[in-house]
Amino acid sequence: MRILSGIQPSGRLHVGNYFGMMRPALELQKQGQVFLFIADYHALTTVIDPQEIRQGRLDVALDFLACGLDAEHTVFYRQSDVPEVQELAWLLSCVTPMGLLERCHSYKDKIAKGLSANHGLFAYPVLMAADILIMQSNVVPVGRDQKQHVEVTRDIALKFNNLYEPVFSIPEPSILEDVAVVPGVDGQKMSKSYNNTIEIFGDPKEARRNIMRIVTDSSTVADPKDPDRCNVYALYKLFATEAEREEMAARYRAGGMGYGEVKKALSAKFEEHFAPFRSRREELQKNPDHVESILRSGAERARAEAEKTLRAARRAVGLD
Ligand code: TRP
Repeated sequence: MRILSGIQPSGRLHVGNYFGMMRPALELQKQGQVFLFIADYHALTTVIDPQEIRQGRLDVALDFLACGLDAEHTVFYRQSDVPEVQELAWLLSCVTPMGLLERCHSYKDKIAKGLSANHGLFAYPVLMAADILIMQSNVVPVGRDQKQHVEVTRDIALKFNNLYEPVFSIPEPSILEDVAVVPGVDGQKMSKSYNNTIEIFGDPKEARRNIMRIVTDSSTVADPKDPDRCNVYALYKLFATEAEREEMAARYRAGGMGYGEVKKALSAKFEEHFAPFRSRREELQKNPDHVESILRSGAERARAEAEKTLRAARRAVGLD
């Protein structure tokens, strides 16, 4: 089974991204052959700042490698290092009905938010289809917001296969939702846009301060508390073993434990979990050539696959 997903650079890694997207993506490494790429062509649809693009794609690479991406087994690459994707996107564009793209929520939402309606943004799903189909992917794990794009990919692949010949495997989306509900320090979903994040590779003192700021109810130390309605417990759960969770939940229910104490326990878990990743990231950062060579070798493996599919697609349309 071939599993493929792409990640757009999106600023500094926080606890919400880690448990919501990165850890599930890394877990997939146990289930099959994983292709994971940095969607830098896609980033250009919304970011017009070369320095931000450069920094963004380097940061994602460092984050994933530091957090446990196994570059021996996983094919980890930058999208733009596989230019075959662009050529396939054109072949796919020519069988993609305008209406299919006009219906895409993601495009409509971005325009509604005031982003300029450039052609790249409109054609985004076709490029995404090329990413997926060129690697003959079977399963595409994505967030709920990207499900429609995978459905569009299936439509495009079926259409191409019918009009010409069966070149592409038909991929299935696999929705990464509810794997983890990660509240931010104010209790809303943790997100950069709500300014409520706990950063993973920032200053550890700052992370600790943010943990201490997490919003709780006004019960006293003595009061029994409901763990399932507590933001601190929701975060603690993500780090704890089953036994630790139960023990902590029992202490909530018994009363006699204040929120300050749980926050300290959470802070300790955070440190224990991320400190090794932080030092690995610092090591990698000192070794940009090593990171570059990992991505180059990923791109080489990805291109070998991409060339095969592109050759078949070119032959199918008459460009042999
Ligand atoms: N659009 C995806 C996102 O914003 C990123 C992406 C690009 C992707 N190409 C992909 C994801 C192919 C899965 C497969 O999250």
